[in-house]
Amino acid sequence: MTEDLPQPYDRATETHVETSRILGADLVRRDAALKVTGVAHYADDCRLPEAIAFAHIVGAEIARGEIEEIDIAETERQPGVLLVLTHRNAPRQGEFGAFHMLGRLARARPELAGSDVRYRGEPVALVVADSPEAAREAAGTVRVRYRPAPAIVDLDAAEASEYRPEGVGPGLPPDTAVGDFEAGYSAAPVKIDVTYETGPQHHSPMEPPAALAQWDGDRLTVWASQQNLGAARTALAATFDVPVENVRVISEFIGGGFGAKLPINPDSVLAAMAARVLGRPVRLALTRRQMFTLTGHRSAFRQRIRLGAERDGTLTAIAHDSLSGTARFEEYAEQSATPVRALYAAPHRRTSHRLRLLDLQHTESMRAPGEAPGLLALESAIDELAVALGMDPVELRLANEPDTDPETGKPFGTRRLTECLGVGAAQFGWATRDRGRREGEWQIGYGVAAGIRPNKIAPASARVVLTPEGRLDVECDMTDVGTGSYTILAQVAAEATGLPMDLIGLRLGDTDLPKTTGSGGSLGAGSAGSAVFRACTALARKLADFEVTASASPLQWMAAATAGLTDGTLSIGNAAVPLADIARRAPLDVRSAEAGIIPSGAAKTISSHSYAAQFAEVAVNRLTGETRVQRMLGVFDIGRVLNARTARSQLIGGMIGGIGAALHEEGIIDRQQATFVAQSLADYHVPVSADIGDIDAICLDGAEPEINPLGSKGAGEISICGVAAAVGNAICDATGVRVRTFPATPDRLLTEMQRVAKQSASR
Ligand code: MOS
Repeated sequence: MTEDLPQPYDRATETHVETSRILGADLVRRDAALKVTGVAHYADDCRLPEAIAFAHIVGAEIARGEIEEIDIAETERQPGVLLVLTHRNAPRQGEFGAFHMLGRLARARPELAGSDVRYRGEPVALVVADSPEAAREAAGTVRVRYRPAPAIVDLDAAEASEYRPEGVGPGLPPDTAVGDFEAGYSAAPVKIDVTYETGPQHHSPMEPPAALAQWDGDRLTVWASQQNLGAARTALAATFDVPVENVRVISEFIGGGFGAKLPINPDSVLAAMAARVLGRPVRLALTRRQMFTLTGHRSAFRQRIRLGAERDGTLTAIAHDSLSGTARFEEYAEQSATPVRALYAAPHRRTSHRLRLLDLQHTESMRAPGEAPGLLALESAIDELAVALGMDPVELRLANEPDTDPETGKPFGTRRLTECLGVGAAQFGWATRDRGRREGEWQIGYGVAAGIRPNKIAPASARVVLTPEGRLDVECDMTDVGTGSYTILAQVAAEATGLPMDLIGLRLGDTDLPKTTGSGGSLGAGSAGSAVFRACTALARKLADFEVTASASPLQWMAAATAGLTDGTLSIGNAAVPLADIARRAPLDVRSAEAGIIPSGAAKTISSHSYAAQFAEVAVNRLTGETRVQRMLGVFDIGRVLNARTARSQLIGGMIGGIGAALHEEGIIDRQQATFVAQSLADYHVPVSADIGDIDAICLDGAEPEINPLGSKGAGEISICGVAAAVGNAICDATGVRVRTFPATPDRLLTEMQRVAKQSASR
C-alpha cells in the first residue's frame, strides 16, 4: 500500500474537534519535573560512549575585509590541542550562494570557506582540544593579520545601497497600494505624519546554540539546538554535500529560540566539520558573548506612518513605509509594514519595505517578525491620532474595524479584535482609569494597542503507534522550545482517542521521525497538532477495518467507515471494543498510522489572524526618566486554546518580551569597531522579574473552524504584538511626551521631557 499524500484540511468532510474534553485543559508541562531536576538533556548535555573533543571559535576582529595571514603554529603547540581549522585547511563545503529550493533556512551555510570577512566576529579559526577549557585557552593564541575594508553598519551611512526586496518575510509583496493614498491623505482634515525608530535587537534564549556532531562514514548525526529540524537537516546536508537521508538532527530539549535557532548556526556546521576531519565526535557551544555576533539579530528600523482621518476618527488614508537593514551577504526582509494591511479599514492605503546593506551578521526572524516592530510604529501613530482628535484610543480602533480584509477584500476568519478591546477595557478598568495621577516623583499613565498576526499552518506529519500494552506512542520531528509541545501534542492525542494522558507517550525532536515544520512562525502547535489528530483518526479507521475483517455483515463494514475513538474505546456501529483489547490482538501495521496535513485552500481564500488587545499602566519617574510597567493585561483571540497553562505562559512571556522592546532591549552599534557593543546580558538588558509588575493574559473562547481540525490559531507571536506601543502610549499619557525612538530609555525620555518643559516655560 502506498502512503496517502497529506491533504489539506476540509472542515465540511473531515473529523474535527467540536467540543473539547481535554484539549485546552490547564495541565502542567510533562517535562517540568525533568527540567527542574536537570534530567532533561539539552544539546550541550549529550554524552557519548566515545571520547568527545571540544571546539572553540576564533572570531574576526574586523567587520569587512580579508585575512592576509593567519598563524596557528603556536596554537597547535598548546596543551590538549587536537586540531586547528582555518580557511586554509577547512574541507570544501557547499556554496552559500543561492537559496536552497526549500528556502532560506535550508540553504548551505559554509564556515571558514575563504579569506573574506563579512562581519565582525565571523569565525576565522576553530580550535579543537580535549577539553573545552583547553580549546578556549588555545584560541587566544591564533594570530591573524587582516586587510580591512570600510564597513557600513548603520542605516544612515548605508543610504546609497537602498533597494526594494522582491519579497518580505514569507514571500509577501514588499509594496502594496489600494485607492489613491496621496489624494486621500491630502484631502483628510486630520493628519498624522510620524517616524518611529527602533534599535537592533538580539534574540536571547536561555540556552545558547550548541551542537555535538558525530560521523559514521558519510552519515552525520548532530545533537543540536534547532527550532526546525527538517530545515537544519537539509542545510547540513547541503553544507557537507551528503544526501539528506544521511543526516540526522536531534533536539530533544531546547532552551528557547525566538528565531535565533531557525537557521543552522556556526556551532553545528563547525562541530560537524571538525568531527569529520578529526574522525571523532566534536562538541561546540557558542558562548553568551558570541551570541551577540554569531547568531542572527533583528535589524534597526525607521518606519514612517501617515494617517489621514475625518474629525469623527474615520481613517481615510494609511501609509506605512518601512526601512531596515540586511546583511550584505544575505538578504532578509522583515515584513514590518504588513500588519496594517489587515488591521484597519481605510479606502486609500499603501505599504512599502526598503532595505539597506550592512556589514553586520545576518538579520533574522525574531519573535513576531514584522509585527513586533511594525505594530510598535503603527499603534503608536494610531495613539497620536487619538490624541490629535481628542478621542478615546479604544473608540478610535473600534471605529475603524473593517468588515472584510481591507487590502484583498477576502472574508476574515474568526476576528474577535473588538471583543478583545472590549473585554480588555472592562477587565483593566479603562473607562475609570485615574489619568494624570501622581505618586511622589512618579507620574502614572495608561496605554492601549491592538495586535494582529497571520494564522496559518505548515506541512506536518505524525505517526501514532498503539502498543500491545495499550499505550499510544506519538512521534514526529516537532520541537519543544519550552513552549509545551510535548504536553499539548499528548493532549491532542488524548482528545482524539479518549485515552488518558498517562497512556500517551511522546517522541519529538528527531529527524528520524515524521517531518513537521518545527517551532516557528506560530505554526508549530496547529500544524503538528493537526497531524497528530489526523494520525489518531487514521488509526481508528485501521483498527475498525481490522475488527470487521472477520465479520460477514455488510452493516458492520459500513459502520467501519464512521468508526470513532472515544474514552479509549473503538465504536463500530453499536459495538464498542476497548482499545486495550484490540491492542493485544492486532499486528503492528494495524496498530500504527501515519498522517499529515498541508495548508488548505481556505488559507488562501480566508484572511485568518490571531488578535490581541494590550493594556498597560506605567509609572514614569519625572526626575530620573525611569519607566516601570506597573500593570499589564493582554486579551487574545487565538482560536481554541490547546492548554490553558502553556498558552498563558507563552502569552505572558511574549508580553514581557514586548516590555523589553519598549524599555530595555537595544543592540547598540559601535561604529568605530563596526559591531555590537553588547557582550553580555549585563549590556543588553532583557526584562527580569524585578522589571515586571502585575501582568496577566486572557484568552477569548472560540475555535477558528476553517484552518485546521483543532480550531486553534497561532499563539506564540501574537503575545508580543502591540505590547511596546501600549507601553509607549502609556508613557505619553503619563508625561505628555512622545518618545519616537525605542527603547524609551531614561536618557531619551528625560531629554524629551526637558525639551517639552523648556518649550512650555518659554511660552
Ligand atoms: Mo519565530 S521568529 O518564527 O521563532
